[in-house]
Amino acid sequence: MITIGFEFTAHTLGVGIVEDDKILSNIHDIYRPINEGILPRKAADHHAEVFARVLKENLDKAKLEMRDIDLIAFSQGPGIGAPLAVGIAGAKYLAAKFNKKIIGVNHPYAHVKITEHLTSLRDALVLYVSGGNSQILIKDKEWYHVLGETLDIGIGNLFDTFGRAIGLEYAHGSVLEQLAKNGKYIELPYTVKGMNLVFSGLLTQTEKLHKNGAKIEDLAYSLMETSFAMSCEALERALFLTKRKAIIVCGGVAQNKRLQEMLRIMCKEDNVKFGVAPDEFNRDNGAMIAYAGEVFYKKFGAKPLDYWKPITNYRIDRMREIYG
Ligand code: FE2
Repeated sequence: MITIGFEFTAHTLGVGIVEDDKILSNIHDIYRPINEGILPRKAADHHAEVFARVLKENLDKAKLEMRDIDLIAFSQGPGIGAPLAVGIAGAKYLAAKFNKKIIGVNHPYAHVKITEHLTSLRDALVLYVSGGNSQILIKDKEWYHVLGETLDIGIGNLFDTFGRAIGLEYAHGSVLEQLAKNGKYIELPYTVKGMNLVFSGLLTQTEKLHKNGAKIEDLAYSLMETSFAMSCEALERALFLTKRKAIIVCGGVAQNKRLQEMLRIMCKEDNVKFGVAPDEFNRDNGAMIAYAGEVFYKKFGAKPLDYWKPITNYRIDRMREIYG
């Protein structure tokens, strides 16, 4: 079975093609805001502009044409309204024009599923860390429950907002990760509530210290050390509670090498396995949507074109309502 997947919930227009367990293509194009956050209209315009080209590049890479595709999978949410609307219009147009089956995919579920597939760790406790989300997830049969999560902003959002506050032209976690390499630790607010996390105090304090002349390298380093230590503490509590034998980390922030190192140390101390996918599959991408769509299609089948609508606040623990 051959599935094409489309990702467009935020800054990335990604397309990927999978044939059962094999990834045939995974090519994307990213809208990079300069000196500002993601503007919904600009993200939507970007996706509309590059959609046809990125689709063609993927089909060429996989040596396929649209008529060879069995299933269209698209990212249904959570996401930003305008880019979601453009992407879903594109996916539905292709389904109608080429008479293909179509399935909507929860974006966090796709991050988890591709990581389970690539690490072969299928019953792991999950740390999902991205721009808009920070969640600890656990699987019960096919459905995921949220054991703990951020009570305010996502960890990626924390980094991006701090990056803009210190005047970075391209405010992104990867830029902060480089800055942090030359930083020294400054104590910052540390707020873990059970298995939940609170990040906004960290943002307020680092912004205040920046205004008072603290070095941006020290702030970047301390922000990452503190927020990652908080995430590890909540995750370790969930590990002891659930007694799972493995941990996986996924989502855009899972690319951060210091976070990976801290999780590896924790897993070694707790004698559980650790898994993370290559960066290509932690940033937003189409292959994960294709893979997750195929998994669900095999269990639940497709639904009619009109059934599928964007869900901007689509939580992973609402999936049963959509498919069940
Ligand atoms: Fe994502």
